[in-house]
Amino acid sequence: MSLQFERVDVLIVGAGLAAVTVALHLPHSLNVLVVSKHEVTSANSDLAQGGIASSYLEPSSVDHERDTLVASKLAAVPDRVYTLVEEGRSAIRDLERFGVVFDREGADYAVGREGAHGMNRIFHVGGDETGRHVMATLRRQLPDNVTVMEHVLIDSLVKTDGRVTGATGFNGETRLHVQAGAVVLATGGIGGLIDWTSNCRSVTGDGLVLADEVGARLTNLSRIQFHPTLLAVDSPHLVTEALRGAGATLVDASGRHVMAHHPLGSLAPRDEVARSLTRHDGTVYLDTSRVERIDERFPKLVETCRMYGLDATRIPVRPGLHFHMGGVDVDVDGRTTVAGLYAVGEVADSGVHGKNRLASNSLLECWVFGKRVAVAVTVEEKPFTVNETTVYEVSDNLFSRYRQQIGEWLTISPQIGEIVSFLENTQQLAQTKHVSRQLSEQTLSLKAARLLASAVIRTEDSDEQNRLARTADSIFT
Ligand code: SIN
Repeated sequence: MSLQFERVDVLIVGAGLAAVTVALHLPHSLNVLVVSKHEVTSANSDLAQGGIASSYLEPSSVDHERDTLVASKLAAVPDRVYTLVEEGRSAIRDLERFGVVFDREGADYAVGREGAHGMNRIFHVGGDETGRHVMATLRRQLPDNVTVMEHVLIDSLVKTDGRVTGATGFNGETRLHVQAGAVVLATGGIGGLIDWTSNCRSVTGDGLVLADEVGARLTNLSRIQFHPTLLAVDSPHLVTEALRGAGATLVDASGRHVMAHHPLGSLAPRDEVARSLTRHDGTVYLDTSRVERIDERFPKLVETCRMYGLDATRIPVRPGLHFHMGGVDVDVDGRTTVAGLYAVGEVADSGVHGKNRLASNSLLECWVFGKRVAVAVTVEEKPFTVNETTVYEVSDNLFSRYRQQIGEWLTISPQIGEIVSFLENTQQLAQTKHVSRQLSEQTLSLKAARLLASAVIRTEDSDEQNRLARTADSIFT
């Protein structure tokens, strides 16, 4: 197999908003390589609909801070939340400086609202296509010191004398070694491990495995968020919560409001809405008849409904896997517990989301903490010695079976028995030194799923009292 060797100051694994924010803010004197597993646009950031939450227009960040903490079930770390919302006040102005043009109504910003926000503070671009527009604009601004390589899979990190010094993987099908003075993980979450998800299918928890294998600490892995409203069609799409902020309500087949029991109605925190919808017998619809100018404000949704032959005033929805709050443990500047390794965005457990992320705080997190990582990164040159890599020897059939099994337990109402049997079945997979890109990719997915499964079991075992009090459908939140 041929080998490509690259030597850079900073390697950024991932190409979504967290990665691009770091790349935009690193000193231009550094030689930076950004790698994307598939096309750069296959990042979750590109799919973001609702927008970016910011208290830019408010007298202070206090209300945004309170909403974030309350949505998190008071499990977020207060000083991290303060950093997020306070530094997030200037995110809108910052992004405008990079060329992002937020939607307006006349001279004013057209700020929207989503679940668990006490007021309208979601800034958006192109209606419900915020991610696509923001990412296209920012990627065009990447300076010359940043090289972007697509179709690069990173399958392991290299560590020398206690410091991460680079990574190995594939560029297309060619084996790739990258020596780096520092490595930033911005690989996103875990949603692509299953089919019923709002995420890009390529986002499969790689960063968790890479970090774990060099000894970085992972935290709160069982904190997984389900979005209440994915379009209930064969290939799920997100139906943004901003639609409910604009007046849509969740109704049953006879038009009865299914969240009528909650003081915030259809705009209750998303974990509570997702659980109510999961328990509901029969199809739930988003009644959008009260949403004004829906074609103009939610063009992507209207187009998607048309594509599936659905009536956009009565949209069938059901919950699906959306966001991973847990991840690689980081300090407020994105440093992991291993020297030379940083993490930012969904792969990191930045402490700002607790048990339930507040809507539209994730793009904000990428921006605020991405800027911090760019300042904190230190580049050190160390010897780069690659150890022999092995991967699981799994056939396509076996891998599909395991993926199906993951889909059976990685749900809002998992059965512990199914998690245990997945762990048992994948405990002693045969390993091979004949490393191929496909086997590497499959191995990363299976290892990521095993990390999550083990964390759920550990959480359950370590809290006997809680376990007895819990119902099966509250494990992940
Ligand atoms: C949405 O638009 O409903 C999702 C936004 C988010 O997850 O922050």
